[in-house]
Amino acid sequence: MKPKPKRQKSRTLRFPKGFLWGAATSAYQVEGGIANNDWETQVRLPRAGAACDHYNRFEADFKLAKKLNHNAHRLSLEWSRIEPDKGKWDEEALRHYFHVLENLKNQGFTTFVTLHHFTNPVWVAKQGGWAHKKTVDDFADYVGKIAQTLGQFIDFWVTVNEPGIYAYMGYQGGFWPPFAKSILKSFMVYRNMLEGHNRAYKLIHAYYHDAKVGLAQNVSSFRPFHPRSFFDNLEVKVQEFINIDYPYRKTICDFIGLNHYMYRRIHFSLWFWKKQVVRGREAELSDKGWEIYPRAVYEVLLKLKKFGKPIYITENGIADSTDKKRPEFIRGYVKEVYHAIKRGVDVRGYLHWTLLDSYEWPVLKQEKTGYKMQFGLVKVDFKNQKRAVRKSARVYAKICKDNALTL
Ligand code: BGC
Repeated sequence: MKPKPKRQKSRTLRFPKGFLWGAATSAYQVEGGIANNDWETQVRLPRAGAACDHYNRFEADFKLAKKLNHNAHRLSLEWSRIEPDKGKWDEEALRHYFHVLENLKNQGFTTFVTLHHFTNPVWVAKQGGWAHKKTVDDFADYVGKIAQTLGQFIDFWVTVNEPGIYAYMGYQGGFWPPFAKSILKSFMVYRNMLEGHNRAYKLIHAYYHDAKVGLAQNVSSFRPFHPRSFFDNLEVKVQEFINIDYPYRKTICDFIGLNHYMYRRIHFSLWFWKKQVVRGREAELSDKGWEIYPRAVYEVLLKLKKFGKPIYITENGIADSTDKKRPEFIRGYVKEVYHAIKRGVDVRGYLHWTLLDSYEWPVLKQEKTGYKMQFGLVKVDFKNQKRAVRKSARVYAKICKDNALTL
């Protein structure tokens, strides 16, 4: 008789009590009908247009998130809707966001609200965008208005989303509006955004003494391409300085918002050419070509530990139109978050990117559509706006419900 195969014992990894689970979105990527920002008015890249019509369907979408056991939700406010012209406040837009946030709070969600997620009102872009100091003052005015009108509903304030990526893509690589290619400008933009964050931090705290204010920074795990190369190792240090130490030493934060997607092997080059290399043939890739390597999030979390602040994963996700890889992606990354907590990193929440398939920022000369890359837990049919819950959403829903991952 054949011996019975041994049953693997299942193991449950429990997360700390009160851990936050949810999904993240951004206004321009989901709302639809935004006409007055620098992405919708540029002509070199496909635009978001109607997106997921979340502007009109937010109630049903939040209901869905609730059904999927999310207890937190991250969204962004669209500055161009709220302040279509300098100093002119659109009361209807403010009322709309009032209802949106009120709806989330009434359903018991903890809210993460991003104030700037890559898009600017046209008037801000015209005055030179974030390369111009004036924008820091204007951003502060806008933040003050939000604090006065919507602050009561905001549990976590995410001032700016990924200042490093924004500065690089729009001002150094020339891939996003305003398509500039200047290292100097890119640095100024980065610095101004961090200053904008600090201004916002102080302002928000003046209104709400115990507000929780942070920014969301995109941090990859960096490794040297040639482990013994002095220059590759040096380049890793430079990248870590630019992406971790510089922003977190320059800003005041109540928490760290981590957006994590990538594992990169860095190859030094005098021309700032950096190689993102695939780990051999076995490496699994997302539809974007990004490597799936869950251990990377653990490595990054350990690097962030030294700042001594609570950490929330404000984004982590995968472009996977077939949803074949997403279930294991989620389980793999969540498991590594658990291991980081066990190593003493104070992680308090995980927000998956993203709730719905939505507009994905195209890159100049690389992508012809903003809708090919599907990051959603929920599939969206853009012909009729129908939502379909993916298997991965259910896998994630179980984790959220149990506050645990069962292996
Ligand atoms: C951004 C999101 C984007 C995601 C996937 C992040 O850098 O904050 O807006 O959709 O990456 O590319």
